[in-house]
Order: sequence, then structure tokens, then C-alpha cells
Amino acid sequence: MKPILSLPEDLRNKISAGEVIERPASVVKELLENSIDAGATEITVVVEKGGHQLIQVRDNGHGITADGLAQAFLRYTTSKISKVDDLFKIRTLGFRGEALASIASVSEINVSSSVDESAGYQMDLVNGVTDAIKAAPPIGGTEITVRNLFYNTPARKKFLKSATTEFRQIVKMLRRFGLEFPEVSFQLMHNDKTILNLTPESLEERIIALTDPSYRDQLLPVNMIKGDYNISGFVGTLNLVRGRPGEQYLFVNRRFIQNRLLNSAVYAAYESLVKRGEYPFSLLNLVLPPDQLDVNVHPRKIEVRFTDEWRIYHVVKSAVREALASILATIPSFEQHVGQMVTFGKEIDPNQRQEPLWFTPAKQSESGADLQRAKEYVSNLADQKEEATAIEGSIMWQVHDKYIISQINSGLVIIDQHVAHERVLFEDALLAFDSTPLSAQTLLFSEILEFSTDEYSVLLDILPYLEKLGFRMKENGQNKILLEAIPSDMGWGNENSVIRDIIDHYVANREKSSSYVENLAASFACHAAVKAGDSLTIEEMQVLVNRLFATKHPYYCPHGRPIIVQLSLEELDQRFERT
Ligand SMILES: Nc1ncnc2c1ncn2[C@@H]1O[C@H](COP(=O)(O)OP(=O)(O)OP(=O)(O)O)[C@@H](O)[C@H]1O
Ligand SMILES: [Mg+2]
Repeated sequence: MKPILSLPEDLRNKISAGEVIERPASVVKELLENSIDAGATEITVVVEKGGHQLIQVRDNGHGITADGLAQAFLRYTTSKISKVDDLFKIRTLGFRGEALASIASVSEINVSSSVDESAGYQMDLVNGVTDAIKAAPPIGGTEITVRNLFYNTPARKKFLKSATTEFRQIVKMLRRFGLEFPEVSFQLMHNDKTILNLTPESLEERIIALTDPSYRDQLLPVNMIKGDYNISGFVGTLNLVRGRPGEQYLFVNRRFIQNRLLNSAVYAAYESLVKRGEYPFSLLNLVLPPDQLDVNVHPRKIEVRFTDEWRIYHVVKSAVREALASILATIPSFEQHVGQMVTFGKEIDPNQRQEPLWFTPAKQSESGADLQRAKEYVSNLADQKEEATAIEGSIMWQVHDKYIISQINSGLVIIDQHVAHERVLFEDALLAFDSTPLSAQTLLFSEILEFSTDEYSVLLDILPYLEKLGFRMKENGQNKILLEAIPSDMGWGNENSVIRDIIDHYVANREKSSSYVENLAASFACHAAVKAGDSLTIEEMQVLVNRLFATKHPYYCPHGRPIIVQLSLEELDQRFERT
């Protein structure tokens, strides 16, 4: 058996570096964080060959003393925390005291710094080993130059992408910092060319500077204070909706983080304005007491744990919803307009309607999909009205608590109650995702549901959609939720299993189904519909049948099974040998 050894410092640093320093952009991140923590207001980043060759960050922060220089590049040396309690009061971006040691273990470094105008110091490091500290002219801050990244870890170096790709990541990192700290000026140079030159400005101006001028007038301010939470920033109008993610920025206590639940809170606030696969612009600054989040979750500090994630979810959602109020408000009035057209017949051409307010003239042509959706919605309602009368007033019977029988002009129909309801709910669900959320009924006794980690992660993915269907839930411990309301239209008795069933059905059909929303709508419809064996009143049957005939496809369920069997008078006459 091999002896158990304590690893040498250099190897420890390289293991740490493996976690924190993945590519040139991670070096840039760590150096920028240090500059910001040092109170810098001017930061210059110089890069050569995508960072493969050189990364230099210079700032006008408080600088490092001569003694500090020798300390700063050792592992677990930091000026930012000193005791365990501090871990729960973190106000700086760094605190682990390992970034510089990690970078130094995989590159060649020169550092130069001064804390006042009287003197400066500089020092070289190779393979993490420090050279003597020498006197140097004061530079009014700190400059760290990193050369030949991964020169001594060839396996890592092999994973580096082309200079262009690595540089793109660096630009992305700078954009992030630029958006995070609009009061700081940033300059980025690559191979002697100035790529970014940002001067201190308002957040709105900074967003425009880092995106493009078309963002002007398309940013809606977010501002909300709820208890000890403060949320501010901007969300984009529908003109800033993109087909892929990447423009959703979330800063918590001025730290960039990634969090799926909070992103989904933003999407949920947009309600029907965005569909799956559409990503609105958002930049949110969330400020909360430092003891309400744990930053010490991952070495890269890009994930945090909140003490009350669901409370934050609701605050984020309502803050964004408030910002979108003017846009969302146009929906009910638009629906009213549609309703009128149906009531008064079809003489009003749906094409003649006024454009909803959120479309700005310049971008109207790009909003064709929304217009199309609106038109479909109009024609849907019109059809509903026409066909629904076909069976109105008919007498109905339920047989074996399973089938509904009714007389029609040409004979009789037999309807499978479960698949009929499934079709109705399926189309309702699709409409809910697209425009009108379904109404909810509050449960008399809310239910606690517990999920596996996998199920819970799927639940987070589909949460905004479940909300549109009328489900209301809150977090209730690890992987647990408290179900408070279900869709008004759902059959009773299976509240406690329906969400789990939807998740299972959704996961099982994920591969097979061509469309995410259709799969989700079908999963919901299948599990929320009345079952064979449920006894229905005459009114319930009439409502169900009328609604069935108002659907686009009343004859087949979403899985392709028949819903209605017709027996014509002719067929009956033949069977009874009347002809
Ligand atoms: N640009 C800078 N200006 C002033 N001081 C700096 C600068 N960069 C580093 N330091 C000092 O060096 C120390 C070590 O930096 P390092 O990045 O290794 O650790 P950290 O920032 O404390 O924690 P983390 O590992 O989480 O980044 C810092 O705590 C800080 O005191
Ligand atoms: Mg640091």
C-alpha cells in the first residue's frame, strides 16, 4: 500500500488552479475582481494572442504594500476575511485567498504596486516561486502581468481554444464586469488595438454602450424594495427578445451569478409574451443582507445558495412584472377587442385591428409571429362560437361513468369523456402558454410534495409553464413544495399526484415529442382530465361536449385515439332493417 503523504505547496496550488483557472478569461475574472475589491475606478486590460501569451490588468486601487506582495501569492492569504463568521458577511468579490496563488502556479508573473506616491515595488514569480521584491516607480495602484499561461501544465494548455475563441471569452467577461460596475471605467486592448473604452456612466448608458444603439428606449426600469431585498436594473421590451440565451444578467450583491430558478422567475413574469426558446434581455441587481446567501459553494463563486430562494423568486418575478406592467396591460384590452369582434359577427377584419402598444413602428415586421398568434386566437374564438351551438340543448346520458351519449341531427354520438376532456385541456394549455393563463382554484388543504433531485430539477424547468396552467406552489424545504392551487378546470382527487405525473409523463415523452410545449400540454391534459369512472352531472357533460366541439380537433385526442364515435341514422336504420 502506498503511504499517505501531505502534498507539496506547488502541487496543492496546481490542484486549486484546476478548479479556478480554466482559461485566459478566468485569469481576467480573478484579476478584475481583485481590482474592484481594491476600490479601483479605472481598470485597463491588455491581452495578447487571446491571452495565451499575455494578460495584464492595471488598476488605480489601494495597492499592495511591500510586505503584502510576498504574502499575496501564497495560498490562503487574504486581506478580505479573517474568521469563520466573516464567511457569512462577505462584501467583497474574493475571499478564498487562492486566486493569485493559483494563477502564479500555472504562469509567469510580474506584479508592480504602490500604496502611496512615495514609493512602489515590483516582483517576479516563476512557477509560483517569488523573486526578490525590488523598488519601482509608484504607479498609483496595481499592475499584474500574466505570461505564458499553462506553460508548465501541458495537458491544460492542450484544452485551450484558438486565440480568437479565447479572446471572445475575455470580451464576454469584460462585458459582464462592465455591466456590473457602470461607475468604473474599463479599457480593453488586444494585440495593440483598443477593443473597449468605457467611461463611468449610468447603468442604462452602459447597457447601450455594451450592446448597440437599438437598445435605447427599449429598456424598462426595474425597481422594487421588498423588506430587506432591493432589486433594480432593466428588462427589455419584446424588441429585445432573442432566440438564444446569453443576455440574462443576474448580479447578487454585485456578484455575477447563475441561477436557473431566478432566471425562470424572469421568464415567468413575461407570461405569454415570450415562448419557450425566446429569451428577453434582463439585467437585475439584487441586494440582500449578506447573511441570506452562501457564496462559499463553488471555487468559482458563480453559484450561490440562498436561505430563501423561493421568496427571492417571487420578489424577482413581481419586480419584473411591475416593470412590464405597461406591456402586459395591453393584453386584456386586446382580448376585449377580440371578444367584441366575435360578439358582433365577422364584419370587422382582424387585420384592421390596432397594433398592441408594445410594437414600435421600426420593428413591426419582426413581430410577425406575435401577429400570427393573435390572428389564430381571433379565428379560434370565432370558430368556437359557431360550432359550439351545434350540440347545444341536446339531451345527454352518461353510461358506465365513461361515455357520453347524445343525439345530433344526423343520428347520435358516443364520446369518451376522458379523451374529450384531454383534448379540451390540451388546447387550453397551449393557449395558456401562448396568451391567456388558466384560472386557478385554491386548495382547501395545501399539499406538501417531495421530489427526487432529478424530478425537482425538471420541475424548475417547467415551473413558469405550470404557473400559466394555474398551479401555484412554494418551496417547502429541500426538493419539497407546498401546492397551494391547481387549475380550476382540473378533476378533483388527484391533486397530490398530478404534478409528479406531469413530470413523469413529460420526461418519458421528452425524446419522442417534437415540441416542448406540446409535450408539456399533453402531459398536463392527460393527468388533469376526468377519468373513466368519474360520474358527471348533465351540466358538466354539456359544458364538456360544447367545449370539445370548440376545439380545433374534436375527433382525435393528442395521442391520436378517437374521441367521438358517430352512429348515423342511416346506419341505425340499416341495423334495424328499416330500409
Ligand atoms: N489589484 C489588487 N489591489 C490590491 N490588492 C490586491 C490586488 N490583487 C490582490 N490583492 C491582495 O492580494 C490578496 C490575495 O488575492 P487573491 O485573489 O489571491 O485572494 P482573494 O481575492 O483574497 O480571494 P480569492 O481567492 O477568492 O480571489 C487579496 O486579499 C488582496 O489583499
Ligand atoms: Mg481575488
